[in-house]
Amino acid sequence: AHQWRGVIREYAERLPTLAGAPVITLHEGGTPLIEAEKLSARVGARVFIKYEGLNPTGSFKDRGMTTAISVAARNGAKAVICASTGNTSASAAAYATKAGMTCAVLVPEGKIAMGKLSQAIAHGATLLQVEGNFDDCLEIARKLGEAYPVDLVNSVNPARIEGQKTASFEIVDALGDAPDIHCLPVGNAGNITAYWKGYREYVAGHGISGVPDGPATKRPQMWGFQAAGSAPIVLGHPVDQPETIATAIRIGNPASWTQAEEARDTSGGRIEAVTDEQILAAHRLLSSTEGIFVEPASAASVAGLLQVHAAGGVPADATIVCTVTGHGLKDPDWALNGVDGERIVPTRVPVDAVSAAVALGLEG
Ligand code: F0G
Repeated sequence: AHQWRGVIREYAERLPTLAGAPVITLHEGGTPLIEAEKLSARVGARVFIKYEGLNPTGSFKDRGMTTAISVAARNGAKAVICASTGNTSASAAAYATKAGMTCAVLVPEGKIAMGKLSQAIAHGATLLQVEGNFDDCLEIARKLGEAYPVDLVNSVNPARIEGQKTASFEIVDALGDAPDIHCLPVGNAGNITAYWKGYREYVAGHGISGVPDGPATKRPQMWGFQAAGSAPIVLGHPVDQPETIATAIRIGNPASWTQAEEARDTSGGRIEAVTDEQILAAHRLLSSTEGIFVEPASAASVAGLLQVHAAGGVPADATIVCTVTGHGLKDPDWALNGVDGERIVPTRVPVDAVSAAVALGLEG
């Protein structure tokens, strides 16, 4: 019987820095690339959704956590630490458990989604809610990583980027070549850095010694999207009090800022801001027209694509991939708000009125 073996084993020859590390895996990666017909028709291009919510802990972080924890195990680490807006902590807690390590996580108080909080707790992490934002948490985590014998597993850890670059490989493998444009949300900017690294390494003639040539003939433009209240790269300066309902990307001073700018500039791409309203509209569009349920931050990629389309910036018939980074069940409450902001409550019916009510619903 065959099953997907996880990103380290599937792409071993392209992950030379993992050589000799034990493979700590929950069989992450291998996520579907889904053609989005309605969205394609709307923007006049061929749009695919890379559904990263289908990773073992429900977000793309697992791709980088299998590598980060495997390298930590090779280093002999007994404990790991991270700062997080929620998904990194959920992933770190799960992979640390798999490796038999302890895990400490620092999260901004009151600003992480319930699903993510419960994951970290379920996997036995030491969870501290810090009276500050993500940027404060990361600063503290970095210092603790230096002062104590623990490995920092945020995306400033190069092993994280190595694992996350495999998403680009999968996209090229599925499409037969790189897309023309790749859209994704930007928070701490590790993922845009990783995708760009992956695309560069997966073209013919990349010239990296010991790593085989890739099948792609081109590299995409990288289009990154930040939430308007947390858009330091767009503004050109750090944001002291980042705000957005997309708590996963509520970040004011991204660690991989320069790498994100490099990806944007060398790919001929763009990094723009989208409002919370645009994010929620894209969130609803994905669930109600494409059958894909994501957490709000993930919808920033699609919100951004729609924004560029509205400005006339989407080339006709381009092949476009939008990464949606986390599952809708991470933060399900948003689906229960209607278009007008009213709360959606399922209709109550007496037992003998059910069939009439169902018939009415099926007609509507
Ligand atoms: N989407 C989701 C669902 C995320 O959780 C994150 C980051 C991003 C997008 C942005 O990715 O930081 O690589 O630019 N979440 C981190 C965390 C910060 O702690 O879980 P990025």
